[in-house]
Amino acid sequence: MDEVSAEVVSRRMDGTAAILTISNPPVNALSHAVRDGLMIELRDLRDDTSVDAVILTCAGRTFCAGADISEFDKPTRQPDLSTLIAELASFAKPTLAALHGTTLGGGLELALACRFRVAHRTTRLGFPEVKLGLIPGAGGTVRLPRLIDPGAALEMITTGRLINADEAEFMGLVDAVTDDGVVSAAIEFTHEALAEGKRSKSTRDSGRFQEAGIDWDWLEQEKISVQQKARGLLAPVKAAETLIAGLHLPFEEALANERSTFELLKEGEQSRAQRYLFFAEKEAAKVSTLPASTLPRSIETVGVIGAGTMGRGIAMALANGGISVLLHDADRDALERGLAGIRDVYASSVKRGSLNEDVAKQRVALITSSPNVEGLAQCDLLIEAAFEDKAVKRQIFETLNAVAKSGAIFATNTSYLDPSELGLLSGRPADMIGLHFFSPAHVMKLLEVVRTPSTAPDVVATALSLARTIGKIPVVVGICHGFVGNRMLAARTAELEQLLLEGATPQGVDRAFTEFGWPMGPFQMADLAGLDISWRNRRSLGKKADIADTLCERGQFGQKAGMGYYDYRAGPREPQPNAELVELTARLASEKGVDRRRIETQEICERTLFPMVNEGLRILDEGIVARESDIDVVWANGYGFPRGKGGPMFWARTLGYKKVAEALQEWHSRTGREVFRPSSALSALK
Ligand code: CAA
Repeated sequence: MDEVSAEVVSRRMDGTAAILTISNPPVNALSHAVRDGLMIELRDLRDDTSVDAVILTCAGRTFCAGADISEFDKPTRQPDLSTLIAELASFAKPTLAALHGTTLGGGLELALACRFRVAHRTTRLGFPEVKLGLIPGAGGTVRLPRLIDPGAALEMITTGRLINADEAEFMGLVDAVTDDGVVSAAIEFTHEALAEGKRSKSTRDSGRFQEAGIDWDWLEQEKISVQQKARGLLAPVKAAETLIAGLHLPFEEALANERSTFELLKEGEQSRAQRYLFFAEKEAAKVSTLPASTLPRSIETVGVIGAGTMGRGIAMALANGGISVLLHDADRDALERGLAGIRDVYASSVKRGSLNEDVAKQRVALITSSPNVEGLAQCDLLIEAAFEDKAVKRQIFETLNAVAKSGAIFATNTSYLDPSELGLLSGRPADMIGLHFFSPAHVMKLLEVVRTPSTAPDVVATALSLARTIGKIPVVVGICHGFVGNRMLAARTAELEQLLLEGATPQGVDRAFTEFGWPMGPFQMADLAGLDISWRNRRSLGKKADIADTLCERGQFGQKAGMGYYDYRAGPREPQPNAELVELTARLASEKGVDRRRIETQEICERTLFPMVNEGLRILDEGIVARESDIDVVWANGYGFPRGKGGPMFWARTLGYKKVAEALQEWHSRTGREVFRPSSALSALK
């Protein structure tokens, strides 16, 4: 063993094979130091006649997770990744990448530049650049479709989907998969290759691209489909265009085209916003007020109380993370319906091909049920997901206090009630926390972790650790009505009725939202969620909303009732204007003396989104969240705020808080409505 360097890149020999190991924790990102270290080693090895082959490997939990994203806002330092990869790809002696962990982005590009790839069976590979508003920038769109089926390459690169090692082997992306040590397997593979004189072609001139021909029509169809699904995001569209253009172009020109598109996207607002969110999501999980020594409690079985929509979703979210769930509902029929609903969701995922049948079976098996509370005694965490009614929740927590074991954590999925009050009612305030999931809970990434003044630090630490286990993005929030998300949603919603009265239509408002990049507009969303939920909430607060209340009084609760802001009688996918609503808004406007006019998109956005930003700053000012970016994480992951705009606060900063404040001031002077009054926090930022 010949140790040349103890730096981020080290070299050792195994016979005539040189093994280069990258060590740049935590994810071996390809920082300048790594690129520089690799370049020095490769230049040294190129002409070293005592070396027959080069094996590239990484220390720690993963092969390279890609370029170092934190360097993207700084000038590029040489050697850049493309230069490094060109050096590696031009090696005449066999080169091999030994992959483990997550081999992503630039890391996969490095591997593609090698002649061979050997992967541990647990490896996951992919190009997640589109999630950062980017495309691969160092040959990914050029080499991958020359190595594997171009259609499969297009799908991987435009969606950012990760594949596992078996799938990669099947596609021809890796040459061998091992269950043992990947470096030993790579060494063995290399020595065999050398003995047999095996010289795989480089991806530049490889196989299927040359042999099978390309179904250009199909690729063009796929490009159109990517465009239709992109919702204003540039990166997936550019990824498809660049990949297809790259197949038409000579290799070097294709690389240059990819590079310039990557650079353009990197400088653009969308990628800046998406990179900001990447780091904001990591930050949100860090709670500076938790003592570093805080250890989470052990969670093996979770009891979920309530088998309605939220309870089922939470049960599935937990089972998807490998956690055993005991679903409880005192109403046996509701419990049966809940379990059947869960089985249906998994069965339709299997049918759609998005879930393997065995995995679905394992997840279903993790969810058991009990109509008796006594069954909950063994649970380490109890999540109440019952009807949003204080008396109902009070009774549940009193019962849980009587049956739950000591040290069990009590959580409420309440959207509006104060978890500290529920904590007192439970008799175990230190064990109480809010875990606010978002519907559908097995899909939506956000978890608002509501910390009460009494919540014990290890309960908060457990919530954060659980969120990680089940793939949720946690944001720790303090107590206020609606917490972060729903409180800001109320500010967004405040002007909707008034807009309808003044002449806007649900279709017009929803279109303004989808053009902005939201997956759906507020009226579509209200119809989907059901108008009765906010009706009940309004009544409990003694509030009124003339239009929505009238719809509810008529039983027009949204999609589930066939009528709401839209008419769904022709089917849920074919919403038509609700003629009764047209008549209702016109009548109410005339009764109230409201002049009706055409309302432009910009006005719709200002009157709905600026109040939301204003409320966000109040929330920050009150210390409900630790940082401004936490608010963006809530909105991007729980409410579909377009990721390409970074979240409401990032978007407002980009526009300029001054502009937001001036517009709100103008609306406030014109209407006198409180929702427009600039908060002191916003005024201070001007
Ligand atoms: N660059 C810089 N930092 C990175 C990074 C990257 N590519 N990937 C992860 N990190 C950092 C995280 O910010 C985090 O830092 P803190 O501990 O300071 O918060 C740390 O590494 C650990 O990350 P996670 O908490 O996310 O760890 P995990 O084990 O849950 O997940 C991962 C690991 C799957 C690699 C995940 O971090 C991830 O998906 N990273 C992004 C990968 C990516 O997008 N790669 C493409 C980069 S762009 C590119 O490569 C373009 C090109 O073609 C040149």
